[in-house]
Amino acid sequence: MILVGELAGLPPGESVRVQGEVPIAVFNVDGELYAIDDTCSHQDASLSDGWLEGCAVECPLHAACFDLRTGQPSGPPAKKPVRTHAVSIEDGLIYVHESTRVTVGGAVAEEVG
Ligand code: FES
Repeated sequence: MILVGELAGLPPGESVRVQGEVPIAVFNVDGELYAIDDTCSHQDASLSDGWLEGCAVECPLHAACFDLRTGQPSGPPAKKPVRTHAVSIEDGLIYVHESTRVTVGGAVAEEVG
């Protein structure tokens, strides 16, 4: 479990990067929190530096969009998903529960780590 910080420090529309086994990006989308691997599956770009569009983030380097709920890219140039991670809030603090799996359409595609 990774401590992200205070919920009050991550207002809607904002993101933050934390360090797990790999960097993880945490987003606040209208009060709902989502966590995905921070590094784009296409090349070495930080998705926490991208642009939120509804429940997706657009990579700042080549504009692939990733669904924050599934980690799936909506189109090229990214072809592989990024991992998603569970997020919880306890006593006003945000925690990420790092996942070890990548899923594609509900099936485990790859074990990571
Ligand atoms: S690095 Fe993200 S789309 Fe290319």
